[in-house]
Amino acid sequence: MCWLSTARGECLENSILPPMALRYRRPHELTYNWRLMRIAATADLHFSAQSYSTIQDQFVKVRDEADLLLIAGDLTNYGQPPEMEMLLNALVRLRLPTVAVLGNHDYESGQECELQRMMAAAGIKVLDGTGYERDGVGFAGTKGFVGGFGRGVLTAFGEREVKVFVQAAIDEALKLERAMSQLRTTKRIVVLHYSPIACTVMGEAPEIYPFLGTSRLAEVIDRHGADLVFHGHAHRGALEGKTTGGVPVHNVAITLLQRQNPPALYRIFDV
Ligand SMILES: [Fe+2]
Ligand SMILES: [Fe+2]
Repeated sequence: MCWLSTARGECLENSILPPMALRYRRPHELTYNWRLMRIAATADLHFSAQSYSTIQDQFVKVRDEADLLLIAGDLTNYGQPPEMEMLLNALVRLRLPTVAVLGNHDYESGQECELQRMMAAAGIKVLDGTGYERDGVGFAGTKGFVGGFGRGVLTAFGEREVKVFVQAAIDEALKLERAMSQLRTTKRIVVLHYSPIACTVMGEAPEIYPFLGTSRLAEVIDRHGADLVFHGHAHRGALEGKTTGGVPVHNVAITLLQRQNPPALYRIFDV
């Protein structure tokens, strides 16, 4: 019996392919990973006219350091198209594939659809309950929502207003479920704006934890499995944590990265 074969049943056990370059996806399917993808991850740029030169000058290095830029929401401060237009002017000059989700600030002016259209026109892959595969790496993303963590998750009980609020969190979890089920890659990255775990919001005031994310998102992640999760929104949270299923979660809010030593605008991950 041949243990190493293509989807068409061709035996590769005696092929000249280097063994370390082979990764099993399904028992009879193969993915070839010749090199790692280097991802620069950041979030919460809150872009405004005043921050244009910072983005323009300091982000220029990312082109040499990464294969892909990932932005986990809050690209703009007030969700206004002119803010996005200026940010896109800076981002397109990086000439780097970019994957992003929107954040709550990008919804502030009710023009999120226009922002998404502008980003797509500039070549940015905007994930909104959708998946995207590039060079053998799958990205599943959605904004996420608030609602609390663990035993503190708000449930749909009582007033109609509470049920509507909770339904928004459930809808985002369902969007993530749909996005993750679209991926066919072995490497799977989840991109959110809100946190799926409490651990990476610690550092913020405990009173606002329920407004920084919800573990409804983590339940989906653990059910489908992922290699890494990125989020932002918790500007004063913690850098790293794990879901109960053991999936690493990284808070890449730029304010948090700027407080590290040395301060950074993004973190680099090899996947
Ligand atoms: Fe933010
Ligand atoms: Fe936010």
